[in-house]
Amino acid sequence: MTIMDKTADIPAPRAGGPDDARLLEVRDLHVEFHTRDGVAKAVNGVNYSVDSGETLAVLGESGSGKSVTAQAIMGILDMPPGKIPQGQILYRGQDMLTMSNEERRKIRGQKIAMIFQDALSSLNPVLSVGYQLGEMFRVHQGLSKKQAKAKAIELMERVKIPAAKQRVSDYPHQFSGGMRQRIMIAMALALEPDLIIADEPTTALDVTVQAQVMDLLKELQTEFNMGLILITHDLGVVADVADKIAVMYAGRIVETAPVHELYKRPAHPYTRGLLDSIPRLDQKGQELYAIKGLPPNLLKIPSGCAFNPRCPKAEDICRTEIPALVPVSEQDGSELPGRGSACHFWKETIHG
Ligand SMILES: Nc1ncnc2c1ncn2[C@@H]1O[C@H](COP(=O)(O)OP(=O)(O)O)[C@@H](O)[C@H]1O
Ligand SMILES: [Mg+2]
Repeated sequence: MTIMDKTADIPAPRAGGPDDARLLEVRDLHVEFHTRDGVAKAVNGVNYSVDSGETLAVLGESGSGKSVTAQAIMGILDMPPGKIPQGQILYRGQDMLTMSNEERRKIRGQKIAMIFQDALSSLNPVLSVGYQLGEMFRVHQGLSKKQAKAKAIELMERVKIPAAKQRVSDYPHQFSGGMRQRIMIAMALALEPDLIIADEPTTALDVTVQAQVMDLLKELQTEFNMGLILITHDLGVVADVADKIAVMYAGRIVETAPVHELYKRPAHPYTRGLLDSIPRLDQKGQELYAIKGLPPNLLKIPSGCAFNPRCPKAEDICRTEIPALVPVSEQDGSELPGRGSACHFWKETIHG
């Protein structure tokens, strides 16, 4: 049985046609992997949306379905073994899962770009970065080699790579990790997309470089008024860049909130656990909290709330009933826009 999560993130229908729709909206998305050992339910009814100029951070431990959701949006899921048995992926109101191949290719190739964690494996080691950046313009816009190279230099300057003119002919391995990630960002920007999906874009970098790359991404996003989906397992990197957060666990969204509210008052014990495990400067030397146990095996997701075996607050109902993602409100019942929790005990968690 599929439980349709009543999401706090589903927007009210807007007036007008598809032009008026959200930039991207994922509705009740399910993804499963049919493997020899059984069916791994990686995504189990995800709803989220992002508008132009907005940053959605998707947060959760490794294995929670963040990347698989992004791969479904980009159309780069391994199918088989992957399968999308249910759901919609709406780009400006049109479902990419049912549109013609040609329409879909146009959107995925030009309107949505993706940045991955590992630039070294995304870039071709035997071609100069200038050639690879220029290729976008040669292939998609029919520019000459010389024009494409000029564009490549322009892009490298945009992402603040020092001495771009001199470095345009260098190869990926000649750049530092941070610079390579800037090249990935340049690549993503080349065709002026509406939406960027960045999957752990700074995870491989050290902390100072992380912040620089994140700042750059944010700056460019604002300048071009793009939507940004920022996937991360690290709550520490999203506070300053995200507008809203969707927390994922075992293929479901368990909490949604505007970013600062999530930090101040989480409404799900899992989010609370993630927050408590961020190192803090004022707690130097103290042992860091860690959520006990591990995320579930997706071949055998626990009954009820998938988080229940690890949850300090779990009661009987948590082992039998899957909590729907419901709107979260103030104690006096007043609305908290954009907030939702999939916890039977969200009231105790946020107000207790
Ligand atoms: N190609 C694949 N084949 C089989 N299972 C997969 C495949 N890709 C992902 N999965 C399953 O989906 C789960 C979620 O993966 P993923 O979305 O990459 O997690 P994360 O939240 O860390 O990005 C994985 O733990 C794995 O069980
Ligand atoms: Mg991932």
